[in-house]
Amino acid sequence: MDTFVIEGGRRLSGTLAVNGSKNAALPLMAAALLTRERLVLRGVPLLADIRNMQKLLQVLGCRAERDGDGDLAMQSADGASVYAPYDIVRTMRAGICVLGPLLARFGEARVSMPGGCAIGDRPVDLHLRGLAALGADVSLEGGDILVRAPRTRGVHRLRGARVFLGGPMGSTVLGTANVMSAAALARGETLIECAACEPEIVDLANLLNAMGARVTGAGSPRVLIEGVSELAGATHRVIPDRIEAGTLAAAAAITGGDLVLENCPLDALMAFTDRLHAMGVRVTTLEGADPMRATARFTAGGALRPIEVTTQPHPGFPTDLQAQLMALLTLADGNSVITEKIFPERFLHVAELSRMGAHLFRVGPTVIVSGVRRLVGAPVMASDLRASAGLVLAGLAAEGTTTVNRVYHIDRGYEALEDRLGSLGASIRRVDDRVEEAALLPVVVAAGRAVA
Ligand code: EPU
Repeated sequence: MDTFVIEGGRRLSGTLAVNGSKNAALPLMAAALLTRERLVLRGVPLLADIRNMQKLLQVLGCRAERDGDGDLAMQSADGASVYAPYDIVRTMRAGICVLGPLLARFGEARVSMPGGCAIGDRPVDLHLRGLAALGADVSLEGGDILVRAPRTRGVHRLRGARVFLGGPMGSTVLGTANVMSAAALARGETLIECAACEPEIVDLANLLNAMGARVTGAGSPRVLIEGVSELAGATHRVIPDRIEAGTLAAAAAITGGDLVLENCPLDALMAFTDRLHAMGVRVTTLEGADPMRATARFTAGGALRPIEVTTQPHPGFPTDLQAQLMALLTLADGNSVITEKIFPERFLHVAELSRMGAHLFRVGPTVIVSGVRRLVGAPVMASDLRASAGLVLAGLAAEGTTTVNRVYHIDRGYEALEDRLGSLGASIRRVDDRVEEAALLPVVVAAGRAVA
């Protein structure tokens, strides 16, 4: 297992281009199952979750390979498997994205029910409720979700309907993706009420429309889909990753740095830049003809001001940047309040940040962050993807050495994070624990003999 070794205290500066979005790419990849024609995605990041989704598509009879230019080319054969087994879905919850597309194209699907994960229970009841509203028969067997479209005149096909996707925490991003994709091939019109408004949903709607679907209203809570009988292939560029952009901007801010981000989806980051601004970080647009692919500069320096923040569905502050913001606020000049409204248990970073000298007090879904003058390096444990990113940020600012274990969590969502931060002046290197342990072993043994 790999570990990051970080020597903190270096100011980051320089220019980076934001990579394609993981959370946009995953449902876009699943949309390849909606057609027998070739779908090409540009700008898909090189990440563990993406490789897992490629594997899942291959199990489902869909070719999914990088071509010579690094684009991801996919083609789904007719009559292939409709079974997404536990082995793969358990490695990546986004495997649930194949449910809607498989059901819509093949009339049935069997997808292993994703379990909970480090950030909470993660139910899928809204996905199932949405597909049931389109006429699907939904059941559970041996831990698998079974769905079957209604049969009329010998054909299994979903039928359009009004679908309400609101749950106790608001809407659902992947649930909206599933229902939208399924409705694209349904008979008649579907209206999704309380749809997720995240930019990743807009990207999926744009891809579906490029494939011949008729989707309007994506990005608002009310999405209308007029079903068509077939979808075609397309070539599509994935939107830049707002969470990677926010994480890199926070890395610059926590080190008092100066970062220029190209291909930066500023339009999707307004709640985040608003909070950065309130903390005293300057955000300037250098080039913004396309606000989803702007060039923006993040300049910090001087004391960070404390703030209040509540995570919310888009366009509110994203839960996927909560841990990174908390790392930043540990060094603010006063008390901040963070409330997590999407995943109320998403606080695995709290105990680890405390090991580095942060003053954090959690009451239910709220954490009071009392800013300290300095963090001190320590060995810390990565737990989930974004919590781990928060620990890396804290390590960049801490005095001394921080080791972040279990870097595979970070590799799920950040492409070559150590190289990218290194190019900005950070001292961060990846070591293979087993190699390090093997190297240390003779020393330990020798020391043992000497003592004996
Ligand atoms: N929810 C339900 N029922 C459902 C689905 C969701 O009650 O059927 C609840 C969840 O428990 C949660 C809230 O609704 O409280 C929102 O969950 P959502 O379904 O929107 O999450 P998701 O679609 O499974 C995506 C991202 C997450 C991101 C969330 C929220 C992907 C692959 N994942 O998950 O990203 O945190 O939306 O924005 O797109 C990450 O990248 O680190 C990550 C976890």
